[in-house]
Amino acid sequence: MTASYDFLDTSPVIPVIAIEAIEHAVPLAEALVAGGIVNLEVTLRTQHGLDAIRLINEQVPGANVGVGTVCSAAEFDAAVEAGASFVVSPGQSDELFERALLTDVPFLAGAVTATEAMAAQSRGFNLLKFFPAGTSGGAAAIKAFAGPFADIQFVPTGGIKPENAQEYLSLSNVRAVGGSWLTPGDLIKGGRWDEIEAIARQASSLNA
Ligand code: 3PG
Repeated sequence: MTASYDFLDTSPVIPVIAIEAIEHAVPLAEALVAGGIVNLEVTLRTQHGLDAIRLINEQVPGANVGVGTVCSAAEFDAAVEAGASFVVSPGQSDELFERALLTDVPFLAGAVTATEAMAAQSRGFNLLKFFPAGTSGGAAAIKAFAGPFADIQFVPTGGIKPENAQEYLSLSNVRAVGGSWLTPGDLIKGGRWDEIEAIARQASSLNA
């Protein structure tokens, strides 16, 4: 495995996206990219996830589209086949680690306990999703992990908003943050892409 996680340096905020209608995928991605948010996590929470990844890949230059809510090796494979350039899971499992180790695709497994962090590290994964951040101790918990786990960095998601994103991003062991606040359902349904671009622009001014 020689996966590179450098893509996270280009923008430290990752929108966690659930596509409810396939026609939203391209204009939504265009608005986010126009606002400076280029790493997009399209989740498999809806039936449109894989098609959305394909369409964004084909039609939105500048987007780096990955996949989220990946819970099995089959989903990992299907998403990479659809063009996902990174893979995010809310948790971790042997089958996911084994699949990720067979590829060069960056994989962010989930961990919120010391035991889970150690399990991922022992498989060679040092960049982990911390989910659900808000109910798992928040920034204070991640800060505490910096002592025992000097080599591990986290991408917290879950309960992160503009008001607290910078608190997380200021931690030395936080590489990026993610969340659904960039893609409010009412703005998407209403096709209010300019407003989503404005949210993205504000988010892209946050510093890791
Ligand atoms: C995730 O999968 O990362 C979360 O659903 C995002 O959490 P949020 O909706 O609280 O931002």
